[in-house]
Amino acid sequence: MAGGDDGGGKIDGGTAIENTAVEGIGNGKSPSPMEEPTHPPAPAALSKSAQKKLLKQQRYEAKKAEKKAQAKEQKKKEVERKRKEWEEALAAVPEEERLKLLESRKALRKERMEQRSEEKNAKFERLSRAREQGQKIVIDLEFSDLMTTSEIHSLVQQIMYCYAVNGKCETPGHLWLTGCQGEMETQLRTLPGFDKWIIEKEARSYIEAFEGQKENLVYLTADAETVLDELDASKVYIVGGLVDRNRFKGITLKKAEEQGIQTAKLPIGNFLKMSSSQVLTVNQVMEILLKYLETRDWKEAFFQVIPQRKRCEADPAGDGEIEEEGDEQPSESKRKCTEVPSS
Ligand SMILES: C[S@@+](CC[C@H](N)C(=O)[O-])C[C@H]1O[C@@H](n2cnc3c(N)ncnc32)[C@H](O)[C@@H]1O
Repeated sequence: MAGGDDGGGKIDGGTAIENTAVEGIGNGKSPSPMEEPTHPPAPAALSKSAQKKLLKQQRYEAKKAEKKAQAKEQKKKEVERKRKEWEEALAAVPEEERLKLLESRKALRKERMEQRSEEKNAKFERLSRAREQGQKIVIDLEFSDLMTTSEIHSLVQQIMYCYAVNGKCETPGHLWLTGCQGEMETQLRTLPGFDKWIIEKEARSYIEAFEGQKENLVYLTADAETVLDELDASKVYIVGGLVDRNRFKGITLKKAEEQGIQTAKLPIGNFLKMSSSQVLTVNQVMEILLKYLETRDWKEAFFQVIPQRKRCEADPAGDGEIEEEGDEQPSESKRKCTEVPSS
């Protein structure tokens, strides 16, 4: 499973974690879920409110696709403008000056490449260390039969984001993908550099992969009674790899209970008042866990990952997971939340 190189080059282009992941997402070979409708047109059998919700979702997706195309066009224009500017600058100076400009540009490029290579090596070191001693976090990929192709695609984008964020962390987690097979695996394999990711890729279930350690498995689920207090290095935390807008409410709780493994929910309610449900997406949960590992402070982790700056507009019913289906910049869809006043 280990790779000599993490292959995260394409994911790793930006300066900030969020930008990094977004760039990586943009590099994905598979089509954007926005390029094809996520859902078929509203069938008459749907209830009025479900039809309304579906229409809203479709309008939202169309708008998102339009915005994405505009941004792409804008970027293209910007590259072209800069190229022209550079050529004009070169043409306007005498030969000797021109050579100097070319030389300094070459040196700058070299410096940037060296810097990138250093960053890549440092990331490789961090992720390799995490394999030895990092907090084990599993993404359970056994739900692919319950998702549409575009939902699987969204999940794949979220996993790519998780991997990118983990790679940027000072204290990365030791990430596992279990139940990684079928359509899920096929789509993951389309990600650039996926085969070189420093992550455990397991076709087996987590029960098999962690045989003999059942008492250490903790399934994270918003439906659990137990509230997570802290992260215990000896435990293996499992996140349900599911994009379902919570139509399979309670499915992970049921699965864990049937398997006789512990469950816990994030202590969101202790720190935040949410504008809607506390069911988060896979990448948000992962980001919160990673932030907590870094800060050992839940409040800090929640506020960094779920800031107040955006309303949860696309989920008016408030019973689905946060509106964020992979192709969108995960950071764009933050849930509205406020701090719980301390009594
Ligand atoms: C989009 S949710 C899936 C919701 C799904 N209906 C279920 O029953 O889990 C993706 C995963 O993130 C994790 N998750 C989401 N919100 C959580 C919370 N508030 N506390 C703990 N885990 C959470 C769970 O592991 C969940 O399976």
